[in-house]
Amino acid sequence: MQNGLDDSLLFPSRLLEELDWSQCSAQFKPAISATAPGDNLILRPLQASDYDTGFLQILGQLTSVGDVSREMFQSRFDSMKACKDTYYILVLEDICTSQVIGAASLIVEQKFIHSAAMRGRVEDVVVSKDYRGKQLGKLLVQTLTLLAKHVGCYKVTLECSDDNIKFYNNFGYEKSAENYMVARFKD
Ligand SMILES: CC(C)(COP(=O)(O)OP(=O)(O)OC[C@H]1O[C@@H](n2cnc3c(N)ncnc32)[C@H](O)[C@@H]1OP(=O)(O)O)[C@@H](O)C(=O)NCCC(=O)NCCS
Repeated sequence: MQNGLDDSLLFPSRLLEELDWSQCSAQFKPAISATAPGDNLILRPLQASDYDTGFLQILGQLTSVGDVSREMFQSRFDSMKACKDTYYILVLEDICTSQVIGAASLIVEQKFIHSAAMRGRVEDVVVSKDYRGKQLGKLLVQTLTLLAKHVGCYKVTLECSDDNIKFYNNFGYEKSAENYMVARFKD
């Protein structure tokens, strides 16, 4: 426990060690991987103590985060963790500063169709401005894509702007013929 927050991980870190990196479709030069992300960096599951390591501030580089108190953060972390095998939030930490410098989420949806299959969604991919262009966005998305396959998803999807289509092509994602529809209730 640190600052009253549970230090446990959102999902088992052994899953990252089990990934078959030979199936990686993106090119990494120099080579990096989930277990060897580069000097002074670690790639790991989110933990509740990340309230104090800049995780929310990193998400703030993606979209509006709003005011999330320590209690709100812990409560959301606990409810995500209770939904076993569903939420896989990855963070990249710079161990020199103990700060989160990148994050990305995989959400696994259980279905009845396709013989009770599971479908993955990649969301909230962000790398801190100071760390962009170092293959870290690629590392986050490649890791979650392999993880989706590893945990048994029959497909994995994501939504992105036109600007990011080329980035996601690196990992085998193609623009779908289907439209993305949204009914928004709040900004
Ligand atoms: C998109 C983002 C995660 C990329 O992170 P990054 O660490 O800078 O990316 P990488 O260094 O891993 O880049 C990987 C490759 O994608 C390319 N790339 C990165 N962003 C790109 C973009 N928006 N469009 C096209 N190519 C892009 C890089 O040139 C690089 O190509 P290379 O492998 O041929 O050299 C980062 O720019 C970011 O956080 N942006 C703001 C949030 C955002 O837009 N998230 C995506 C939401 S869908």
